[in-house]
Amino acid sequence: MRKPVIAGNWKMYKLHDEAVNTALELKNQVANATHCEVIIAPVFTALKTVADRTEGSNVNVAAQDCSTHTEHSANTGEVCADMIKDVGASHIIIGHSERRQFYGETDESVNEKTKACLYFGLTAIVCVGESLAERESGNAQTVVKTQLNGALKGLTVSDMERIIIAYEPVWAIGTGKTATPEQAQEMHAFIRGVLAETQSEESAENTRILYGGSVKPANVRELMSENDIDGALVGGASLDATSFAQIVNYK
Ligand code: PGA
Repeated sequence: MRKPVIAGNWKMYKLHDEAVNTALELKNQVANATHCEVIIAPVFTALKTVADRTEGSNVNVAAQDCSTHTEHSANTGEVCADMIKDVGASHIIIGHSERRQFYGETDESVNEKTKACLYFGLTAIVCVGESLAERESGNAQTVVKTQLNGALKGLTVSDMERIIIAYEPVWAIGTGKTATPEQAQEMHAFIRGVLAETQSEESAENTRILYGGSVKPANVRELMSENDIDGALVGGASLDATSFAQIVNYK
């Protein structure tokens, strides 16, 4: 049985106090949610306070990126995964399409960051997803498979216990254009098939695969009813505590 995961990616939104207030509101509104794991990903500067103020609740905290380096070293502007763990976060989002598109993230750096995350015992939420042009040219599965294999290169079945995959078609992110449940299900089943080939059947069965791209209170239930959709990575609709809580409480 795969426990669903509902994760909120706050991107570069919210000043420190705003992030803390939203987290506190959310904490109250999802206090009874035991059917899924709840994760929020604030900006680095709010991580510690948000993690402190949600400690002991069912809200877990994630960072949105980390360094490829595992040694404290001369790398201006970078944040090492153990520094993220040190302030109370348990997860790191890695390889989000905005980082791939605008910040030079490659399958190689996604792989290194995923390994850095695992090295310190954190869980990686590894993002994959095709662009509109790639889907329209019929290459969506090839693109996703390449990203997936690149990201997970060298990982073992036991490493996979701390990996969550997020399928986020780029054309659905922040556009209001959600993939249909059928489109998402098809890709999720494909991803699980790739994991079965490269890891093991059992590992593939146990890996949570989240859908991301314009998930809202109005469409989450339909998406979650698909067999291979094990949760959601939510951007815009996670910024408001009430709207995100409605997504968490989709049941
Ligand atoms: P969205 O973003 O829900 O605003 O489409 C999803 C994401 O980027 O993770």
